[in-house]
Amino acid sequence: MDIIGQFPLFYFPEYGSAWMMGMTGTIHILASHTSVGAAMLFAFLAYKAYKEDRSDLYPYMKRYGMFLLIFSYVIGSITGPGIWYTATAASPRGISALIHNFVWVWATEWVFFVYEVIGVFVLVYFMDKIDKKTHLKLTFSFALASVGTLALIIGIISFMMWPGTQAYYATGSASDAFFGTNTFPHMFLRIGFMIMLSGVIGMVISSAIKKDNAELSQELTRKMGYVSMLGGFLVLFFFMWYMGTLPDNAHAVFNVTKASVIQSRIILTVVFSIYFLVAIVKPRFISTPLAGLMIFVILIAGIWPGEKLRESMRKPYVAGQYIYSNQIISRDVPGKGIKSELPIIAEKGLLQVNPFIPENLRVITDENKLEAGKLLTRMSCSNCHSLEKTGVFRPLKDRLAGFDKEGIVAFLQVLGEGGRPYMPTLKLPEQEYDAIAEYIASLKY
Ligand code: HEC
Repeated sequence: MDIIGQFPLFYFPEYGSAWMMGMTGTIHILASHTSVGAAMLFAFLAYKAYKEDRSDLYPYMKRYGMFLLIFSYVIGSITGPGIWYTATAASPRGISALIHNFVWVWATEWVFFVYEVIGVFVLVYFMDKIDKKTHLKLTFSFALASVGTLALIIGIISFMMWPGTQAYYATGSASDAFFGTNTFPHMFLRIGFMIMLSGVIGMVISSAIKKDNAELSQELTRKMGYVSMLGGFLVLFFFMWYMGTLPDNAHAVFNVTKASVIQSRIILTVVFSIYFLVAIVKPRFISTPLAGLMIFVILIAGIWPGEKLRESMRKPYVAGQYIYSNQIISRDVPGKGIKSELPIIAEKGLLQVNPFIPENLRVITDENKLEAGKLLTRMSCSNCHSLEKTGVFRPLKDRLAGFDKEGIVAFLQVLGEGGRPYMPTLKLPEQEYDAIAEYIASLKY
């Protein structure tokens, strides 16, 4: 059969489907990372409260827990499935690859997650109703379940960057897919970030109790300052390790933006170090609006660019270094019975092998050339570039400004030879190159 297992194309004008993923992901990360970080912090506070007989810490935990319940678990639970929907539309074969490799890991993660959700309700609502020792044990099991969800998900997300071991391609086994070289650095990097976030959010709550109990408020803000500082150090340390475990294509993309990424990270590090130092030395200067603002800064200046970078560094792949972002399988994975689709596409062309091409566009003629070119460009490039003149996502208008049709064909031929490590190899029959070039040239960038 000359048909490959493609899905209908999800085309998102101007912003691109990757931005949709990024936005959902960024909000989800803030919520989910807070929840894991706070679970660890809870265990620490409950331990302190129990050991040192500090019953004044319980009301703080209760307020924090309530915030967590509403903020993390509601927003986290909505955006979690949101990622599934967005990813399934934007990258159906990426999601399919993850499910085919990790279905049981995911099932296990959901068990942990259900425990976590029930756990947070129990911790908050039963705090005054059960004895302190039982409460302490509950906080420990809650923290374990939370870290468990992270540990399981991290193996899956790391596989998206690359399996990390060549063995995976031959065996196709879930453990070879899960334990890649960057799984653990990635996990510790995120744990550091979670600890930092738990402290940053803890300051919102500790500063809010200033009116009720100024002394306790300052003590807790100071503690949260230390917690955040510790998390921040872990982030920096494990970020270095993580970068060292990335594949070559990731470094090729990173090098393009390296200078500005490093510069912005240094600024962030300085700003947050000052903030944490103030929390430690002069805790009364930390007010609730300031603490809230800093969460916003993390969201906009930390998570959003960070996730965009991670997403970019996977290029040209979306998962496992065998599925390109434009949904084409680029190599054999014997362990999974998967075959590269590049040869058949080079021979027959995309229009012939994709089951969702309208019949009138299967064969290029003078009349339909522009329309076929538009469809081909969307299929081949729109996953990574906005096509519109006003597009914002790595827009082609900047990349191909001033290129005439011949220039574009020549560029496509370079891609056909795999001439760019960060872009998919795209070998197509001459008529399809011609149609793409005619369409892009007609946009007059
Ligand atoms: C897997 C994602 C991906 C796909 C698909 C993709 N590109 Fe790119 N493209 C990139 C990245 C990453 C860069 C480099 C960073 C940048 O320019 O922002 C890039 C850069 C470019 C450049 C700048 C010049 C250069 O050599 O770096 C051009 C031109 C370009 N792409 C055209 C295209 C065209 C045309 C298509 C469709 C046939 C396409 N790209 C498909 C990811 C992709």
